[in-house]
Amino acid sequence: MTKFKEELERAYKSIESRIPFAPEIALVLGSGLGEYAESPDFDIVAEIPYGEIEGFPVSTVSGHDGRFVFGKVGGKNVVCMKGRVHYYEGYPVTQVVLPIRLMRRMGAQILLLTNAAGGVNPAYKPGDFVCITDHISSFVPSPLIGPNEDDFGVRFPDMSQVYSLRLRETLHKCADFLKINVKEGVYVQLTGPNYETPAEIRMVAKLGANLVGMSTVCEAMAARHMGMEICGISLVTNMACGVISGAVLSHEEVKETAAVAKERFTALVTAFIEGIQTGE
Ligand code: HPA
Repeated sequence: MTKFKEELERAYKSIESRIPFAPEIALVLGSGLGEYAESPDFDIVAEIPYGEIEGFPVSTVSGHDGRFVFGKVGGKNVVCMKGRVHYYEGYPVTQVVLPIRLMRRMGAQILLLTNAAGGVNPAYKPGDFVCITDHISSFVPSPLIGPNEDDFGVRFPDMSQVYSLRLRETLHKCADFLKINVKEGVYVQLTGPNYETPAEIRMVAKLGANLVGMSTVCEAMAARHMGMEICGISLVTNMACGVISGAVLSHEEVKETAAVAKERFTALVTAFIEGIQTGE
């Protein structure tokens, strides 16, 4: 057994008796979007703070509350990460993805990743939702580096369709029904914690990125390795540095845009969860 599986089993065993159900869907709530777990749409069944899980990385960022929240959404069993762990906090990337692996270990087959992102594509505007069609991982280490755990997945996993076409279609159908405009785009994960320079944004734009952020990609890779079906939604909280020249970026702005988008985000996530056909 690899050390990754040992760590995962230790974490799992430390909370096994407190997990109320085998979740069908795992949900990761991005910066400023954690309030979904307190919305009337999310019927809370149990909560486990990350600090009570053995060997668990604990988030340190303001606006990132660290706990698993288990609940029902439209009758479906959902486990939600209220607050994620970021690579820039100093944890090795294999630790950063431990919560994702744990949700898979609990039984989740579908993963909805949400994040706050900078808009690189000038056609976006703050407040837009973007369905992630693909990602660029090349600026952060792969969470799959190290001995391969064959129980998780194969040594050389395919990444030709990280973000499920089926789930993307479901998301667009729900968005159309709600009359919420959802765009599409490629997300690049950079390490952070600093925001980018204008030259860096010009670089990632040239490489084909439409969105820039500090999360999501390493989680998607670990989840795909384990055979999960993934959907990603970015909320454009600000235009990336230099896209609107002269604008200065702050975490406050990110949180403010997320707060304004809260109701639309809640409606979209709930409709999506209700609309997904589950069952392995
Ligand atoms: N850059 C990186 N990460 C982000 C941004 C950004 O502009 N906005 C929200 N998360």
